[in-house]
Amino acid sequence: MPAPSSTVPLPEVRTMKAIVQSEYGSPDVLSLAEVERPLVPDDGVLVKVHAASVDAGVWHLMRGTPFLIRLVFGGLSKPKHAILGSAIAGRVEAVGTAVTQFQPGDEVFGDLSESGFGGFAEYACAPEEALAPKPGNLSFEAAATLPVSGLAALQALRDVGQLQAGQKVLVLGASGGVGSFAVQIAKALGADVTGVASTHKVEMVAKLGADYVIDYTQTDVTLAGKQYDLILDAAAFRPFSAYLPILTPTGTYVAVGGSTGDFLRAMVLGSFASKAAGKQVKSLESKPNQADLMTLKELAEAGKLIPFIDRTFSLGEVPTAICYLEDRSVKGKVTIRV
Ligand SMILES: NC(=O)c1ccc[n+]([C@@H]2O[C@H](COP(=O)([O-])OP(=O)(O)OC[C@H]3O[C@@H](n4cnc5c(N)ncnc54)[C@H](OP(=O)(O)O)[C@@H]3O)[C@@H](O)[C@H]2O)c1
Repeated sequence: MPAPSSTVPLPEVRTMKAIVQSEYGSPDVLSLAEVERPLVPDDGVLVKVHAASVDAGVWHLMRGTPFLIRLVFGGLSKPKHAILGSAIAGRVEAVGTAVTQFQPGDEVFGDLSESGFGGFAEYACAPEEALAPKPGNLSFEAAATLPVSGLAALQALRDVGQLQAGQKVLVLGASGGVGSFAVQIAKALGADVTGVASTHKVEMVAKLGADYVIDYTQTDVTLAGKQYDLILDAAAFRPFSAYLPILTPTGTYVAVGGSTGDFLRAMVLGSFASKAAGKQVKSLESKPNQADLMTLKELAEAGKLIPFIDRTFSLGEVPTAICYLEDRSVKGKVTIRV
């Protein structure tokens, strides 16, 4: 075998920094590491990630709880995907030969939750349907807040809840990631919006544009004497049956998140309860898609959707950012600057 020639060029370094995880657990299982950059398949877009955001799904996947999440995303005993992070914004670095919508240099944002995650890294690869052009008026950090939480809010109100202009909407968990977008999207769709939050987040929910804000530590919304056409519950910590009396006779309750037990109860028992009560009890299973990313972009560019960013962390601080979210201190969204 000939000896290696000293004139053969060394292969280009193709590594990147990423937050990796090899087991389920607390934020201690996450570490910053040098890993291989994703390869670009024919139908893939390689994005240089400028920002990502953290949502409740991130810490569920990190901890592997509730157990159901392991069945849905794979990895019964250890995570199938080493790099977490679904919501990103960045610049296209390279595209596969079959990609038609994007080219290197384009600014994009997107949702990687159906394409293997990988957002907490310097580069991420996604099919083009998972991405859309970044709203022109938003920074990378602000754009990275929209996928996942914004999509969930939009689909819960418009598709599951069938919201019509003029209806009365109640948003539970109005100060959180999903809730802060739900308040604004419901207003943009012409609803009369009441947001529910804990005391120190009341002012923030009012600033989002809610017509009324209820501090749930002071007032039990189910006893406040008002009825709603649509209840979006992003903080389901009470059984859905508690809210049936404050739904109008044709009203709809949509479970989005909260405690696993209460969410599953709404999912499984909802349709029976709907028939019995004459009211609709539904649950959201959000689906990322490009058309809805475009809707969020249009709302943002029209000034109807303004992300509320609580804090921004560096890539190495992802574990701290997740602790901050789990703590329930966050108002709106937490972002990662990569
Ligand atoms: N079904 C789907 O497809 C889908 C999609 C996306 C997200 N989700 C789920 O939606 C939920 C919300 O997500 P997120 O990203 O908005 O989370 P988040 O940013 O952590 O917000 C959750 C909000 O719930 C409120 N909250 C927490 N504990 C509460 C309690 N015991 N009683 C009343 N309110 C409470 C908190 O506000 P206060 O401090 O004001 O209480 C917080 O603002 C999560 O469970 C997530 O997994 C579901």
